[in-house]
Amino acid sequence: MSSDIRTKFLNFFNSKGHQIYESMPLVPDDPSLLFTNAGMVQFKDIFTGKVPAPAIKKATSSQLCIRAGGKHNDLENVGYTARHHTLFEMLGNFSFGEYFKKEAIGYAWEFVTQELGFPKSALYVSIHEKDDEAYEIWCEHIDPSRIKRMGDKDNFWQMGDTGPCGPCSEIFVDQGAEFFHSEEDYFGGDGDRFLEIWNLVFMQYERHSDGSLSPLPKPSIDTGMGLERVCALLEGKKSNFDSSIFMPLIEEVSRLAKTPYVYESGASFRVIADHARAVSFLLAQGVNFDKEGRGYVLRRILRRAIRHGYLLGLNQPFLYHIVAKVCEQMGGHYPYLLEKQAILMAQCQAEEERFFQTLEAGMEMFKKELTTLQKGACFSGEVAFKLYDTYGFPLDLTQDMLKDEGIGIDIVAFQSCMQEQKSRAKASWKGSGDEVKNGDFLEILNEFGENQFNGYEYSQTTSRVIALLDRSYKKVASLAGEGFVVFDVTPLYPESGGPIGDKGELYRAGKKVADVLDTKKYFGLNISLIRPFETISPGEVLDVIVDPNRSEVIKHHSATHLLHAVLRKVLGEHIAQAGSLVEASRLRFDFSHPKALSQEEIQTIEAEVNAMICKNIPATTEHLSIQEAKAKGAMALFGEKYGEVVRVVSFAGESCELCGGIHVQNTGFIGSFYITKESGVSSGVRRIEAVCGNAAYVYGKNAINTLGQTKELLKNQDISLGISKLKTQIKELKEELAKTQPSDELSPSACINGVVIIIAQTRSANIKEIIDNAKNQNEKIAILLIYQGGQEGEKLSLACGVKNAPINANEWIKAVAKILEGGGGGRSDFATAGGKNPSKIPEALDFAKDFAQKKIEENI
Ligand code: ALA
Repeated sequence: MSSDIRTKFLNFFNSKGHQIYESMPLVPDDPSLLFTNAGMVQFKDIFTGKVPAPAIKKATSSQLCIRAGGKHNDLENVGYTARHHTLFEMLGNFSFGEYFKKEAIGYAWEFVTQELGFPKSALYVSIHEKDDEAYEIWCEHIDPSRIKRMGDKDNFWQMGDTGPCGPCSEIFVDQGAEFFHSEEDYFGGDGDRFLEIWNLVFMQYERHSDGSLSPLPKPSIDTGMGLERVCALLEGKKSNFDSSIFMPLIEEVSRLAKTPYVYESGASFRVIADHARAVSFLLAQGVNFDKEGRGYVLRRILRRAIRHGYLLGLNQPFLYHIVAKVCEQMGGHYPYLLEKQAILMAQCQAEEERFFQTLEAGMEMFKKELTTLQKGACFSGEVAFKLYDTYGFPLDLTQDMLKDEGIGIDIVAFQSCMQEQKSRAKASWKGSGDEVKNGDFLEILNEFGENQFNGYEYSQTTSRVIALLDRSYKKVASLAGEGFVVFDVTPLYPESGGPIGDKGELYRAGKKVADVLDTKKYFGLNISLIRPFETISPGEVLDVIVDPNRSEVIKHHSATHLLHAVLRKVLGEHIAQAGSLVEASRLRFDFSHPKALSQEEIQTIEAEVNAMICKNIPATTEHLSIQEAKAKGAMALFGEKYGEVVRVVSFAGESCELCGGIHVQNTGFIGSFYITKESGVSSGVRRIEAVCGNAAYVYGKNAINTLGQTKELLKNQDISLGISKLKTQIKELKEELAKTQPSDELSPSACINGVVIIIAQTRSANIKEIIDNAKNQNEKIAILLIYQGGQEGEKLSLACGVKNAPINANEWIKAVAKILEGGGGGRSDFATAGGKNPSKIPEALDFAKDFAQKKIEENI
């Protein structure tokens, strides 16, 4: 039925001299429009005069349109009203300055009344309130009482915020008072009884970005009639969804859900039927599921459909079956649907699987929040954000879920979480320099999307330069000095996690034109820092050769995985990676562990890693869901989004980690592995440094060379025997030396009447202890020591002690200190003093000796 109407329409206008045009793509060549949202989009530049009008200035088409975002967005209403759709077909006729209101109204009237056969008694029209000309023309066809003047809101049409526009006139069909009883069911009201079927736009102006209007070069005509509406009306249905366009799809949903469709409670059936059409056409026309832009709208539409399926008890992928039905049903007029049916189903199913993984957990969280919600309160913006961020629930999906409950979301809180996340993301790039933040990455991404990395398979490719950036990350038209190159496809691995970025060389027709110094990834763009020898320009094709040293980097990378696994095995499951550096000549791995490793532990770890190397374990790479990766025991499961697909690198049975990096084909390539150092980084974090591959050979060779030289020095003796012999010799020589040393500075200077007299200058600061010891070791003693610190100008310290001798220590020290220009005192058996003049030390020593001798002799 719908295809009959389409054919009838196109043929009718063709017979009136209109050229039939194919439906243009849903993705327009116009960044200001999300999707093609009206039949006139493919003619908009003709209307504005940007491109000349074709020879035949009258056109007709049946255009696929999507209104799921931007100025014309019907997404929210889909399923809940009889008429709104995301995807629909618009029948239209267009005049590029050829005819205007009179003919447009005449054709429309003829088609509606004669071709479609609507009774005149059921027809009404609206016009713009100021459009007297349209009023006059309509009066020729219809009773003036059926013409209603309306304002800009209803009767002024424009494509988007900018573009062609003009006053319009709409044709309505009265579906009969007997079926519609709401207060709004009068002509001009919001009820469904008077249904608008055709909009005739009298294109007269162009709206500019500043809001101003300028007249078009020639007044033109753009009309739009919704195929789905007309089809439903002609089939006598009160809702588009009851028509032959949607019912087969709804029946398929009903079959899969094993639930009969009842109109009153059937919104979910209708949403699924509608959305399956949009998903089918968008996928078929090359739009892919994505995190942003048109791909995100596609994802939102699919997720909305899944959620409604879930409400019907469908808890595994089902939409792809409806997609199949859409392909069968519409493949007649759109053959590409049939051609691509299998791939569309597979694409849809894969995306469904992704969302089903998070759907249940998200629904749980949603329900929990709902049960704790106070009456009249808003749904938490934070929870809505978590649903979005962690479980992939687009905001409008959560809004849709709340629709039945009549609850709103705290949008301000949601937006602020979103903002916070954006600032966090911004802060995390800060480390790479503010310039990165201000770089032209977005521009490149918008134009080309993320570039591809094929370095897992290749170390050399022929790649096209898609953009060049200077050192400030600003786009440049050519590069003669150092800067960044962006290739469409690149084998150069960007710095990430542990491994450093690839270096390499660029060749143009066999001639080297640049060195690649480093490779990094910002915002999904893989960029390489180059030093060109010749000017490089966008668009040219170069041979990219990765530095062969990369093979050494990847050995250290794989060895890091083995080390990580062994650390957990030997030291315990608490080991978690705290940092990693992987270079061609070494690796450094930081991990959580409370204490230093023992020599024995280090030996065991090293030996275990080497044992894994010797086993030639092949590396395998898989793309798994987080749940599957977890089930496999993969390490490093943090920061990953629930439900996300991750890359898992395993060395069978020994190591299994989430990792995006490049690895050896099997552990044997690593060669051998030596731990070169174990140390502490901070409290609870240890560091192991190690080498493998060629670096291990160099490390081993150096060690062997050193041992050889040592052996030579030891005259080819066994090294440990030779060294212990040397140690014994040193000890003996020291003892020998001690014997030949001059007598101790504390040797007595005299012994009179049994009293040992020790008068000396000493280099030991602890003179009080020395005096105490001397007193303990001798029966009769008089001892006086002068200490001069090492520093010039430092004060002199004196102390003296007396035991069983006729000397007063207090007097003695005072007399000696005086010579040294100082003073002091103490008890009769012990006294201390200070002095200032070191040059007087010899004099003071002589005086002290005389003083002591005299006192003893006096008392004999
Ligand atoms: N461009 C007009 C519309 O979309 C006909 O309603």
